[in-house]
Amino acid sequence: MAILKIARMGHPILNRPADPVADPAAPEIARLIDDMMATLDDAEGAGLAAPQVHVPLRVVIFHVPRERDADAVESVPLTILINPVIEPLGEARREDWEACLSVPGLTGRVPRWEAVRYHGLAPDGSAIEREATGFHARVVQHECDHLDGIVYPMRMTNLAHLMFREEMRHYVRDDEVLDEDEDGYEDEEEPASEDP
Ligand code: NI
Repeated sequence: MAILKIARMGHPILNRPADPVADPAAPEIARLIDDMMATLDDAEGAGLAAPQVHVPLRVVIFHVPRERDADAVESVPLTILINPVIEPLGEARREDWEACLSVPGLTGRVPRWEAVRYHGLAPDGSAIEREATGFHARVVQHECDHLDGIVYPMRMTNLAHLMFREEMRHYVRDDEVLDEDEDGYEDEEEPASEDP
């Protein structure tokens, strides 16, 4: 296993559609997945897409530790999804904080489908199909966006809510950015650590 270099926003690999994986069980795909897991673990992120490690293939990995989603009934173990497809369930969208290993130091509020169904292939070629809500749904949408050349700031509707994490202390409530009101900050949820 190797820890791979992570592409940062601006690198063209992050803005092109990734190609489908022809054979999920191929040895080079197994090696890629091993390296992605080592890279994600090293970066302490929630998810990683192959284009972020300069490989233009439709592979994402992610997990949802229980503490990351207060609404989650249970945590989502590390999941490897090959050639994933997402469909929204219902019309509801929700805005929340995201971050990305390819956009270091920044965080932003991104609208996402509240509930989705996703399917794809596991490395052994078997089918995975799940429904997801909350942070789980958000992570999957964020990672799969990377496969279509989309980085989260491209999804934002108000770039006033794109900021350096170190400036988060100025942020007070939804849709409102104020300076030097430290009282409100205590109640604000922390941005996701990385990706998203
Ligand atoms: Ni990302």
